[in-house]
Amino acid sequence: MCGIIAYAGPKPAAPILVSGLRTLEYRGYDSAGIGVQNGSGVITVTRALGVDQLADAVAAQDINGESAPNVGIAHTRWATHGGVTIPNAHPHTSADGRVAVVHNGIVENYMELRTELVDSGVEFTSETDSEVIAHLVSRCVEAGETLATAVRCAARRLHGASSFVATFADQPGVIVGVRLGNAGGIVVGIGDGFHLLASDVLAILPHTDRVVYLRSGEVASIEPSRVEFTDLLGEPLDRPVFKTGRSFEAAAKGEHPHFMAKEIAEQSETVSSAMRRRVDFESGTIDLPEIPYTDDEIRSIDRVIVSGMGTSLHSCMYGAQMIEALTGIPAQAENASELRYRNTALNERTLVISVTQSGETADTLAAMELASAAGSKQLVLVEAEGTQATLVADGTLYLGAGQEIGVASTKTMMCSLVVLYQLAVYLGTRRDRLAAQRASDLVSDLSRLPGLIAEMIEDGGRCEKLAKEKLVDKRHLLYLGRGALHPMAMEGALKMKELAYLHAEGYPAGEMKHGPIALISEEMPTVALAPQGALYDKMVGNIHEVKARGGEVIALATRGDEIMPGLADEVLWLPVASQWIVPMLTLVPMQQLAYHTSVALGLDPDKPRNLAKSVTVE
Ligand code: F6R
Repeated sequence: MCGIIAYAGPKPAAPILVSGLRTLEYRGYDSAGIGVQNGSGVITVTRALGVDQLADAVAAQDINGESAPNVGIAHTRWATHGGVTIPNAHPHTSADGRVAVVHNGIVENYMELRTELVDSGVEFTSETDSEVIAHLVSRCVEAGETLATAVRCAARRLHGASSFVATFADQPGVIVGVRLGNAGGIVVGIGDGFHLLASDVLAILPHTDRVVYLRSGEVASIEPSRVEFTDLLGEPLDRPVFKTGRSFEAAAKGEHPHFMAKEIAEQSETVSSAMRRRVDFESGTIDLPEIPYTDDEIRSIDRVIVSGMGTSLHSCMYGAQMIEALTGIPAQAENASELRYRNTALNERTLVISVTQSGETADTLAAMELASAAGSKQLVLVEAEGTQATLVADGTLYLGAGQEIGVASTKTMMCSLVVLYQLAVYLGTRRDRLAAQRASDLVSDLSRLPGLIAEMIEDGGRCEKLAKEKLVDKRHLLYLGRGALHPMAMEGALKMKELAYLHAEGYPAGEMKHGPIALISEEMPTVALAPQGALYDKMVGNIHEVKARGGEVIALATRGDEIMPGLADEVLWLPVASQWIVPMLTLVPMQQLAYHTSVALGLDPDKPRNLAKSVTVE
């Protein structure tokens, strides 16, 4: 969740680090800090409650990291242990200020380590678990060890998943980073006469495209002209340098007031990227060369589990329904944090499909590891290149959405639905369950998606009006849907919670009578997903029940529906589309409702409170 960047090279370190933090801010934005070696025997540390404030503080103090060579580490925090305060911001230092550390993850045994350090006379200045690392490293360097040895020695004492980076004033020019488990990655950037370490390749791309992704238990020691990889015992490792295909695009909102508005508007193009090189619209076929299984292996699958968290879990719910319908294989969606801790009967005939735009979500990765241990087949849908999820899976299906800056997922979810759609058609075809004509019809339905999304986006003005006039003074909302629209209702509610901080519940509409109906009143409007389709009449029944209890209804209905305007208080129109395409279309007005309600409430939809885009702790 936190973001780390470190630099060793000939240029002043501070500006490079501050601009790297801006790129990494999506990982956490509670507070930020920087520590640079100034050749003075201590590390100059500056901390602030946000990257903008940090940039001002660094400029005011004229901190550049101008020693020779220039070395610094920096961090943007998402608080786990200890409140959002300056003392809890990173870097944390040893008592003498000679060792500084930035950390991402959780030190599970920190109480035990803290007690041990306090008993030996160490005074703590923060409430964080991370501070123990600075003192552990310091204890080892005091015993005469090098920074790299000290980092390895400290790392071996830590329980849980963590990544941390340390620097030591007595070893000018050296920075050491380590990755333990899945607490967000560490990428090493290899330059000519400089090196970087960062949580995400995006922060490295402005400087170099040559990178090495650390694996769990690996340590990288960088200097301007040298990089060395070892395991936790100090055994040298030969890690090949990889040229990333990603290129740096400075994040820009263009004409949009927020990144989220831009990302919603981009969805008609991004879904086309998610289809590129996979869908042949002429022959009506789908090919997924990323999938490494033979026909026999695909036929041997007798159970599919689609696993993820949050918005990605909602995609999984849609994917499981479609895969089961098109392949006949029993398929279920599972919250990865539950999957990892129950005794799931996984085996080599199970296909586990994970959905994680960041590729770093701790629970999703843990569930993937469980599946690997059971010998299950594994595919992953990911946006972020080279992340841990891609290393664990047998095959990676990239989403092609492009970098999403808004913390709440919009375009990455839309693309994950498109990829799951393709996967369902592909598996159905390879198992001979789906006739060529039916597959071709599904491909033809998919070909209309970009145009239909563009149409929905054009209609967005109505959502803005509804948000301002109807939703901004509400505290509660109910979202109802059936079938593949049930996960979309849950997603609509999640977006409203995240962005507008309204209490919103997403339910299968059939469940309403079993409890949620008690909440219905004029205080709690219902968003009813009621497009034409097999379950339309059932939804009409639910809407009548809400109206009979004085509830207000905003319905999403298919253009041409003559019943809905007389029944619902407000109707948001959906174009005519097929069964598996309609759910994707319903996302657009629900994203817009949440976005405009957030803006009308004076909130920042790009950075909702308490959230981070990459949830690397469980
Ligand atoms: C909500 C949202 C989160 C993520 C969840 C999983 O808008 O973005 O619920 O979907 O944290 O993240 P990934 O997809 O990176 O595994």
